[in-house]
Amino acid sequence: MLSYRHAFHAGNHADVLKHFVQIQLHEYMNQKDTAYTYIDTHSGAGVYALDGGYASKNAEYETGIGPLWERKDLPKPLAEYVNLIKELNPSGKMRYYPGSPYCADKVMREHDRLRLFELHPADSKILADNFRKVEAHAAAQGERPSARGRRVLIERGDGFHALKTLLPPPSRRALVLIDPPYEDKQDYRKVRDALDDALVRFPSGIYAIWYPVLQRMESRQFADKLKRLAAKEWLNVTLTITTPGPDGFGLHSSGMFILNPPYTLEPTLRQVMPYLVQVLGKNADATYVIEKGTQVTGTASGRTGANGAVRMPVGNARKASPTAGAGSLRLPGQAPAGTPGAAGGAPRAPVAKRSSIAAAAAGKSARPTEAGVTRKSARPAEGGAAGKSARPTGPRNSGPRRP
Ligand SMILES: C[S@@+](CC[C@H](N)C(=O)[O-])C[C@H]1O[C@@H](n2cnc3c(N)ncnc32)[C@H](O)[C@@H]1O
Repeated sequence: MLSYRHAFHAGNHADVLKHFVQIQLHEYMNQKDTAYTYIDTHSGAGVYALDGGYASKNAEYETGIGPLWERKDLPKPLAEYVNLIKELNPSGKMRYYPGSPYCADKVMREHDRLRLFELHPADSKILADNFRKVEAHAAAQGERPSARGRRVLIERGDGFHALKTLLPPPSRRALVLIDPPYEDKQDYRKVRDALDDALVRFPSGIYAIWYPVLQRMESRQFADKLKRLAAKEWLNVTLTITTPGPDGFGLHSSGMFILNPPYTLEPTLRQVMPYLVQVLGKNADATYVIEKGTQVTGTASGRTGANGAVRMPVGNARKASPTAGAGSLRLPGQAPAGTPGAAGGAPRAPVAKRSSIAAAAAGKSARPTEAGVTRKSARPAEGGAAGKSARPTGPRNSGPRRP
């Protein structure tokens, strides 16, 4: 099914979360000189025009990048993302929004590698056209075209399949973004299968998976299934801007799930998520959740192995104030506010140890642990100049990722 066009959703709150986190991951990868490969299995068109065409239809960017555009109080990591978009819009007017390939190209170094896959014929062509313009601009700035040609590879093809062919990467360093439409519920399974395989081929890669938080079963169970993959560590962050109305229409919540997350990410999220909730949240239902965990390797006797730790809760903040940087913290294991015994009740001690066998038998993973209320100046073509997004939109067809 190739009806999805990302242009309809460019710059919405889900893109904000995804591209902000993506840039943070690149920043971490850039800390070491050794080159790395960025693999974007579902690239989209690369750049989207906001002031016309698809993006202007529902103007989803107005509740995503829009409210951040003029802010003067952006936390530094978020400012990096917004500044990248501002560079794409030198006039100061918000006209273009960068997709994940463009974000990557801007933040990655000359010796790094981009491997971009897009199945849709129109979007893969727009993606290639956009990168040609970026290349032309780079050449105009004096960069050697041959060097850039090796740096970026764009293919019209199945990103799930391509991933198999690229791991492990030559430099043994890789950042993988998996961002399918999820219009087809098979995407949930395909992501898991792809990661299962990728973790065998290249266990130390950083894998970032965007996903929609929806009512459909596949979506509700998705993060918990990802937690059971054979990665050493994981981190999950969700941003909810409001709860769905009775008709459940719209995408109100999305997540980024990172396997082998850099240690730098969690503190950055703690700093930025409350701010995003405050600025993008539509009402008091707006919230974020940060949770992380480690793979449990244990013995039948209950002794844990090298990775020993059980999935560790991070904490839980409700109504966190971005300015104060703190909220009423819910301790690990404590019942959420509003549940019997929650207020003032002694926190339950988290389960201290659990063997992999027990964990597998229980088929469960740690529960969410932090919540709060309270992303070259060549002018690119618009992603999605033809066709129409058929992404469904509500609980009646709650499969969509960005309705
Ligand atoms: C959500 S969009 C990607 C947005 C992009 N990652 C970004 O952040 O700017 C998903 C894209 O995946 C494409 N797609 C769907 N199935 C695919 C597959 N099996 N392999 C590669 N691309 C696919 C769709 O055409 C669509 O452009």
